[in-house]
Amino acid sequence: MQLKNPKSINAAITAVGMYVPEKIYDNKYFESIVETNDEWIVTRTGIKERRILENGATSDLATGACEDLFTTTNVKPDEIDIIIVATISPDMFFPSTACLVQEKIGAKNAWGFDLSAACSGFLFALQTGASFISSGNYKKVLVIGADKMSCITDYTDRNNCILFGDAASAVLLEPTEDLNYGIKDSLLHIDGAGKEALYMKGGGSLNPASHETVDKKMHYIYQDGKAVFKVAVKGMADIAWEIMEKNGLKSPDIAYLVPHQANLRIINATAQRMGLSQDKVMVNIGKYGNTTAATIPLCLTEYYREGKVKKGDNLILAAFGAGYTWGSMYLTWSID
Ligand code: COA
Repeated sequence: MQLKNPKSINAAITAVGMYVPEKIYDNKYFESIVETNDEWIVTRTGIKERRILENGATSDLATGACEDLFTTTNVKPDEIDIIIVATISPDMFFPSTACLVQEKIGAKNAWGFDLSAACSGFLFALQTGASFISSGNYKKVLVIGADKMSCITDYTDRNNCILFGDAASAVLLEPTEDLNYGIKDSLLHIDGAGKEALYMKGGGSLNPASHETVDKKMHYIYQDGKAVFKVAVKGMADIAWEIMEKNGLKSPDIAYLVPHQANLRIINATAQRMGLSQDKVMVNIGKYGNTTAATIPLCLTEYYREGKVKKGDNLILAAFGAGYTWGSMYLTWSID
């Protein structure tokens, strides 16, 4: 393959796909299993319902999203060079979910790997995929955000169980030499100071699975919601504002903010900081809750299919998650 000058190549999203399971847990369902109510959940989070995968694993969600994507493009699975799966709920430690998806979709010429960055996973994976494209060495990269959050959710813990859902969404990255389109900039960060505010304590090499870890519920999400809320609200708003400043963008230049969907109040604070009105913010948290790595591509896919995103639209993607991890990305939409 001929090497090109990286500076002359942008990575552009050329196809999108999504998969959400059919089973719905609405707020009424949670009223029946923990002490909560619809009004509390809607006012505090903006969530009304989430999708739950009853049978199957994260690779099945991811495969569903890829199959949906392939119905919309002439690109065939065997043309894919790299598969990157952003997830914190892989089918198993190894092999990677990327391997399982590769086999299920028949991407027989691909290599790939999983990427763990929690709620910022898709953003980190998209930048990683874009770097492979800009290197000039790869032409087709599938970037997937997929999480089966229900498998690590404690449905007796009202603080957390109302927040999460299962979903996957995928985008195809291809090179464009028209630098008016595609991924133009990103700002990404990690800070391990947040490691104990949101994490899963058991199952890894620190606390391997045992009767004790199961008894102590160490295989579920642990979150200090208030602490995370405080840093997330500032972190996401600041990073979204910073990328606007860095690229000389004013609010009228931006068609949409595409925020990670963790809490409607965090989303609104970010939009406010950017000077954007509600109609310029992609929001679907009401239908799906927090699906971790899947939220951002799920928004992109739905808004594009509803005809709300047009070629040439400037988008700012922003996320904040466990780690801590956070970041923003500036791209110009390239699909007609
Ligand atoms: N139903 C009813 N009451 C609930 C409840 C529920 N599902 N969950 C918690 N409560 C109670 C709390 O126990 C607390 O009661 P207390 O004051 O008697 O102790 C009260 O509601 C208020 O809790 P608080 O934690 O102050 O609520 P909050 O406004 O911070 O909202 C979250 C809670 C979890 C929605 C919010 O903190 C949040 O969104 N955090 C960040 C989550 C996140 O983004 N995570 C992913 C990382 S990107």
